[in-house]
Amino acid sequence: IPVECFDYIVFGGNGDLAERKLLPALFHRDLDGQIPPGARIIGASRTPFSDEQYRAFGREALTAFVAESHRSEEAVDRFLSRLHYRQVDARSETGWPELKSLLDEAGQDRIRAFYLAVSPSLFGDLASSVKRHGLAHEKTRIVVEKPVGRDLASARALNALIGEHFEESQVFRIDHYLGKETVQNLMALRFANMLYEPLWNSAFVDHVQITVAESVGLEGRAGYYDKAGALRDMVQNHILQLVCLVALEPPAAMDADALRDEKLKILRSLKRIDESNIEHLTVRGQYKAGASNGGAVKGYLEDLGEPTSDTETFVAIKAEINNWRWAGVPFYIRTGKRLSERMSEIVVTFRPIPHSIFDDAAGHVQQNQLVMRLQPDEGVKQWLMIKDPGPGGMRLRHVPLDMSFAESFHVRNPDAYERLLMDVIRGNQTLFMRRDEVEAAWEWVDPILKAWEGRTVRPQGYTSGTWGPSSSIALIERDGRTWHEPD
Ligand code: BG6
Repeated sequence: IPVECFDYIVFGGNGDLAERKLLPALFHRDLDGQIPPGARIIGASRTPFSDEQYRAFGREALTAFVAESHRSEEAVDRFLSRLHYRQVDARSETGWPELKSLLDEAGQDRIRAFYLAVSPSLFGDLASSVKRHGLAHEKTRIVVEKPVGRDLASARALNALIGEHFEESQVFRIDHYLGKETVQNLMALRFANMLYEPLWNSAFVDHVQITVAESVGLEGRAGYYDKAGALRDMVQNHILQLVCLVALEPPAAMDADALRDEKLKILRSLKRIDESNIEHLTVRGQYKAGASNGGAVKGYLEDLGEPTSDTETFVAIKAEINNWRWAGVPFYIRTGKRLSERMSEIVVTFRPIPHSIFDDAAGHVQQNQLVMRLQPDEGVKQWLMIKDPGPGGMRLRHVPLDMSFAESFHVRNPDAYERLLMDVIRGNQTLFMRRDEVEAAWEWVDPILKAWEGRTVRPQGYTSGTWGPSSSIALIERDGRTWHEPD
């Protein structure tokens, strides 16, 4: 669907996110003809850059992060001609009049999307400067990157600061996991099929597993990461969003508030984890030296260059949702850096059959599993029991109905940011987090953080290149279950 003409103003325009994700994503949208003629991308930050220098930065970003087969000279040049740059200081008057006159050149009618790809400590200053210098008009949107706060109190304060200057309908809080194809597919699978929804409850589902495993380590983000840790970096946002989409009730419609109302109910139904049950329900780990991606890698403390840090790079949690649909169904979640491989998946395991009519020679009847693979090799597998082919009598086998998106559709898998950046222009907030949602997620996370801080126990070490601390295996095996092994 074509969009109205726009200016994307990227604060932190020469930063890591702009380089790795935002410019490449906008380039792909341009390639697909989705960016109207005249639309501009305006980088802004404290660094003094000319338009020409910013275009050189853009060229390098595309060279590094867009596949060569997509980078024709003509397409790159057309995209770079959309790039502009203004030096702006969030905390002083520097550069604002110049940015305003650049924006005003395009008239008052054009959508203005201000993307805050900067440290959250600047969100308030930027939001108020945009307003104070008359840069905002009716068609203004503001896009906020995570982290929105580092606990409930700071998230509330940040939301309030932004809320002083912008209506909630103008604020787009990005969680890029919601832009991933499989995540959206979860909605299609659940609500565009008759098959699953009748079984999608505690009577038929035994448990759910969500794994978001990364093989990378700190990747030069030590300053941010060491203050955050895996619970704040991945669980508070991405993983809780996945939990919500698996667990929510069917929304009344596929629109922003209907969906977000249902997600909010899930967040509010999460069973509280605090010092009374923390030991039993959570595991925190920190990677040690080991091997990853075929080479030796250092441990977290060495990567950090500090002899001590209690920041966790791995979390596993047994979460529960206290509502009618999910009572008693554990949601085992785990995420970590420097794990065995990069692999994210959601696994729904159905209950065992109530009675087997097959004799021992037929083999064991295994539980049905629905595996939704987020990355890599996005796809869906429904594991079923069938009869082993051949005349040798009844022997049962567990096999998948396997749908790999790459094989089935032969299309490039778009990056999550591509969808989300254009949704901002369309004014569609369905895949963005509402203020109350972010705060409800922190409400669940806060007591976990507090309980961890209150204990003197360090995170457990795990060797890089493994699946995390052994206690993560114990967490699920204690309940007679095992983590799903990726195939
Ligand atoms: C980011 C986290 O939000 O998500 C990073 O800050 C993490 O630490 C990244 O590496 C993972 O995203 P993806 O899309 O590669 O799974």
